[in-house]
Amino acid sequence: MTEQITNLNPRISATDLGSRKNATPIVALTAYTTPMAQRLDDHVDMLLVGDSLAMVIYGMDSTVGITLDTMIAHGQAVMRGSKHACVIIDLPAGSYEDSPEQAVRSARRVIEETGAQGVKLEGGTAMAAQIEAIVKAGIPVLGHIGLLPQKVTKAGGYRIQGRDDEAYQAIIDDAWAVADAGAFAVVIEGTVEILAREITGTLHIPTIGIGASPACDGQILVVDDMLGMFSDFTPKFVKRYGDIGNAVEQAARNYNTDVQSRRFPEMAHVYPLEQNVKVAS
Ligand code: KIV
Repeated sequence: MTEQITNLNPRISATDLGSRKNATPIVALTAYTTPMAQRLDDHVDMLLVGDSLAMVIYGMDSTVGITLDTMIAHGQAVMRGSKHACVIIDLPAGSYEDSPEQAVRSARRVIEETGAQGVKLEGGTAMAAQIEAIVKAGIPVLGHIGLLPQKVTKAGGYRIQGRDDEAYQAIIDDAWAVADAGAFAVVIEGTVEILAREITGTLHIPTIGIGASPACDGQILVVDDMLGMFSDFTPKFVKRYGDIGNAVEQAARNYNTDVQSRRFPEMAHVYPLEQNVKVAS
């Protein structure tokens, strides 16, 4: 008898996500490390190794300044910790804007060195040539329009986008430019709700919202925000699903008290001479 090995839970592909238009909403979170990817993998469709890690993990003031090498290292970590979710990795600022050739070079490095399912880059009309070139090279691209954190200083801070007629229309044009260039889906960040709803209702590719609209075809949050771990500031669009930051502080406080009062370690945590116990496997 031939033994059939069936993978019951194969990794979700970018194409799978691209087919989720007007379907069950896409569930996405950011992830930057192996243990976090392990915890999230069964509960999301997509893990984004976002360049938000510049702020969330490295304490930088903005997402600008993180290198392609660092994104690749975190992409490898997230791939090691996941088997099921589609893993998408951000191209960082400075790695794709100059030309379509530069964009393809960077995207190729990301995919070849991590094995991830695709890349994300910020920008609509202005980045259509880059998206088209990467897609032509066989690499799936997730677009990102609306509030663009890599351009935040130019846009005058983290401001909601699309409030006046000109900006509203420009973001609609961006959405079409990204879709026409061949992106499998597009993140819409920080826009007025009606704009994200209109784009979602007309565009043929799925939209993934963050501070956008419940009408989007999916939602993404920065994992440290939703866990209550990153508390420098919490935008209105974040819903807290955990209080990890306070849990960590409380655990550290308890540890401090136990060490100083010699309540830790107890005999259960040390190695008596007569027992031959392995320290680690
Ligand atoms: O870098 C990131 O985390 C992102 C999300 C906010 C979509 O781009």
